[in-house]
Amino acid sequence: MSLFVIGDLHLSFSTDKPMDIFGDNWENHAEKIKNNWIEKVHPGDTVMLPGDFSWATYLDESKADFEFINSLPGNKILSKGNHDYWWTTLTQMRKYLEENNFHNIDFLYNNAFLVEGKVLVGARGWLNTYKEDDNYKILKRENDRLKLSIAYANSKFDNSLEKIAFIHYPPFYKENVPEEIDFIKTLKDNNIKRCFYGHLHGPSHKDAIEGVIDGIEFKLISSDYLDFDLVEIKWGNNGVLGLYYFYNTFYDFHNDGSMANSKVL
Ligand SMILES: [Fe+2]
Repeated sequence: MSLFVIGDLHLSFSTDKPMDIFGDNWENHAEKIKNNWIEKVHPGDTVMLPGDFSWATYLDESKADFEFINSLPGNKILSKGNHDYWWTTLTQMRKYLEENNFHNIDFLYNNAFLVEGKVLVGARGWLNTYKEDDNYKILKRENDRLKLSIAYANSKFDNSLEKIAFIHYPPFYKENVPEEIDFIKTLKDNNIKRCFYGHLHGPSHKDAIEGVIDGIEFKLISSDYLDFDLVEIKWGNNGVLGLYYFYNTFYDFHNDGSMANSKVL
C-alpha cells in the first residue's frame, strides 16, 4: 500500500468559486485531480491533503467537496490551510463525517497518524514574520501545534519510526536564515527529515524552497505546482531514508538527508 500527497485542492463544488483567478491551468482542475487520482491510488492507500481543501465557509457548505474525495479510492487525511474557514474542532468535524457516511476521511489536527510504518505529523503554519507582532504570535502558536502533533505521535507510536511533517504554509522563505526559524528548530529537535508544504500558487511558485536544508528535505506540493497530480512518498531501506517520485524522477535520500541518487524515468 502507498502514501500520496497533494495540497491545495481548493474544491468549490458548493460555492462555485471561479478558479481561473489562479491561472488558466486551474480550469477543470478537480477533473484533472480526479483522473490522476484514479490512475494512481488504490483502495487501502492513503492520500495526505495538507490544507486549503475547500472554499466553503461552513462545514455544511463543504458537503459536495467531501463527497468528491470520499468517492475517490484510498483513505484521506486532511490538515488545515488558511482558506479552510469551515474547519472546526476535531470532535465536530468527525461527527460531521459520521453523519454523512464519509468513512475514509480523517483530520490531522494536534494529532498524528501511523501510515505504512511512518508517522505523519503537521500543522497549518502561518505567514512568515519575525517581527514581534500579532502574526508572529500566530506563527508561534502554530509551531506549538506542530509540537503537540509530535507529542501525540510520541505518546502513541514507536519513537524510532520516521516522522514526516506536513505544513500548509512554507515553513520559511528565501530571505530567512534557517537556524532562526522556529519550525525548522522543531523539525530538527525531533529528527524529522522530510517536510512537505503547499500554499504557493502560480507566480508564487518562484518563492518555493526545495531540497535538503539543514538535513531536512523540503518539497512544495500545492496542486498547481504538481500539475494537479499526486506525489507518491515511497520508502527505502538500508540507510536510504526515502524514495519518492516527483515530476518523472525518483529520488533516494540517505539518513543524513543527502541525496543517494536520482533517476529520470
Ligand atoms: Fe493556502
